Amino acid sequence: MSGRKTINDFLSEDLIDITHLLTLALGQKKEQLYTDSNYVLTNKELKRLDELIQQRQQGKPFAYLSGSQGFYHLDFKVSPATLIPRPETELLIDIAIDLFKPNQLIDVIDLGTGSGVIAITLANKCPSWRISATDKSKEALKIAKKNTTKDINFYHSSWFDKLTGKTFDLIVSNPPYLAENDSHLESLKYEPIEALVSGKDGLDDIREIIQNAPKYLNQGGYLLLEHSDRQQKEIVELLKLSFVNIVTYQDLNGLDRVILAQVR
Ligand SMILES: C[S@@+](CC[C@H](N)C(=O)[O-])C[C@H]1O[C@@H](n2cnc3c(N)ncnc32)[C@H](O)[C@@H]1O
Repeated sequence: MSGRKTINDFLSEDLIDITHLLTLALGQKKEQLYTDSNYVLTNKELKRLDELIQQRQQGKPFAYLSGSQGFYHLDFKVSPATLIPRPETELLIDIAIDLFKPNQLIDVIDLGTGSGVIAITLANKCPSWRISATDKSKEALKIAKKNTTKDINFYHSSWFDKLTGKTFDLIVSNPPYLAENDSHLESLKYEPIEALVSGKDGLDDIREIIQNAPKYLNQGGYLLLEHSDRQQKEIVELLKLSFVNIVTYQDLNGLDRVILAQVR
């Protein structure tokens, strides 16, 4: 990349996410790029942009280049230690806030909080809910703590390990659920494997959560889980042992992606 190049020169090239990459390299808002489109980039800016273009072309997700990702109504810091929050996970928020009133005094825990999106979004929407969150990754918890402006109890814990004696009205989780040999893993190589994979059939963590959840739920309490579109039937069978009122929810593509159940 050499010579005098303007913003417009880059905007007219067919490069993935070029508008967003220009905003990062120049520290400008998207609108400014169009009003200053004849601006000639300095050598330093060109070098930075070139690095970003290369990383993006190698498949690094834009969220890891920018260090942030929008979720529901908020913006969250992310790092390679955290999963990039996905729009499907917003369904968990919609379901949770329909279960209880925002001003009810209830206890909620988000298991495997990652960047903290579920716990923090719920804390923002429902100020009276007492919210806790766990993750077994210390690095992810550091990011979640940076993201929160609310009072959330964070636990460095493998699922329920550090929660002895505590009970909740709602346990919500987007746990790892891909099988070890899932074909999507190649395209997810920049994201932490511990956030994605859960044994041979992708259900190891979901089995553990379902098996232990009843001990940690108050009477009539709910378990709300995200899962892959091929796991619904097996999860219903696992839930039937200790749960009733099992309801499956579909994502915007009509695929079964979330399950809600009430402890018996
Ligand atoms: C699919 S990611 C979800 C992250 C976040 N909740 C979201 O929806 O974007 C799963 C998370 O579970 C965490 N995790 C994996 N195994 C765990 C375990 N045994 N105990 C607690 N957290 C675990 C991972 O570190 C990761 O942050």
